[in-house]
Amino acid sequence: MDLLSSLDLSKKEIGRIFELADRHMPAHSRSGPLLALLFEKSSTRTRVSFESAVHGLGGSAVYIDSRTSQMSRGESIGDTARVLSSYVDIISARMNRHQDIVALADAADVPVINALTDLEHPCQALSDVYTIKKHFGRISGLRIAFVGDIAANTANSLMVTAAKMGAEISLVGPDACEPSKAYVDGASECSLVEISNSMQDGLEGCHVVYTDTYVSMGQEADAARRRKLFAKYQINAKAMRYARDGAVAMHCLPAHRGEEITSEVLDGKASLAWKQAANKMPVERAILFYLLNNAD
Ligand code: CP
Ligand code: NVA
Repeated sequence: MDLLSSLDLSKKEIGRIFELADRHMPAHSRSGPLLALLFEKSSTRTRVSFESAVHGLGGSAVYIDSRTSQMSRGESIGDTARVLSSYVDIISARMNRHQDIVALADAADVPVINALTDLEHPCQALSDVYTIKKHFGRISGLRIAFVGDIAANTANSLMVTAAKMGAEISLVGPDACEPSKAYVDGASECSLVEISNSMQDGLEGCHVVYTDTYVSMGQEADAARRRKLFAKYQINAKAMRYARDGAVAMHCLPAHRGEEITSEVLDGKASLAWKQAANKMPVERAILFYLLNNAD
């Protein structure tokens, strides 16, 4: 039997469907949690690791590309959030503007997770700091350099998360790229934050040398200027020698080989980038469990 037209259904069939709908209430009768992944921007790692993470909790995920949803035709974020809340248990969203994820969370009745905005990438920072802790056995007392676009979403989240856990932060980038005051202030409340335009000075004594793309999603129109602005701040073998012996190179990925990092470093012994990517899954699984169960 098909359902193609309202003309095809008898009164009896309509009544039967209503009875069945009643029998399957309440709506949240699934065994595991259902996660909505609402994405306005591209993703490989965050999307798949969240899908894998929720499967690990016995649940499942539904991916909504905002570009093919009614959001692209003007349905408000608030209305979208209210509707999604009646279908799913938790939402992970990747939004262009940070203020939009705040609006989404305000209107949603279920927990909302930031899967990246223009200002922050908090889940990335949690899995990166987890990766650093796994490698060094501690965070406290380490010195972590973020190099290049020190105003990037990843820089903001990493400096605050790592500083809260006791690491010193060294931001290394051109004078024309000012780090965000709110995040520098937040990190400075917990630990030392230093800013330098010199690779040699900024990397001295660092255990971790972290970088990200010069051109984040949404900045494509400014790509040529940004590539020139950050060109001196590439993580290469020489830059790694400025850091302390045993220092590691980190990158949230995707990498632009030959721009912000060389293949020699990214694929070399000091690279933690692949562990970072792998660790997104268990840490996101922990985030989902924590938010769904409000667990200590
Ligand atoms: N690191 C990260 O967030 O990667 P994706 O953009 O592929 O999700
Ligand atoms: N700063 C990058 C991070 C990608 C994971 C961006 O926003 O595009």
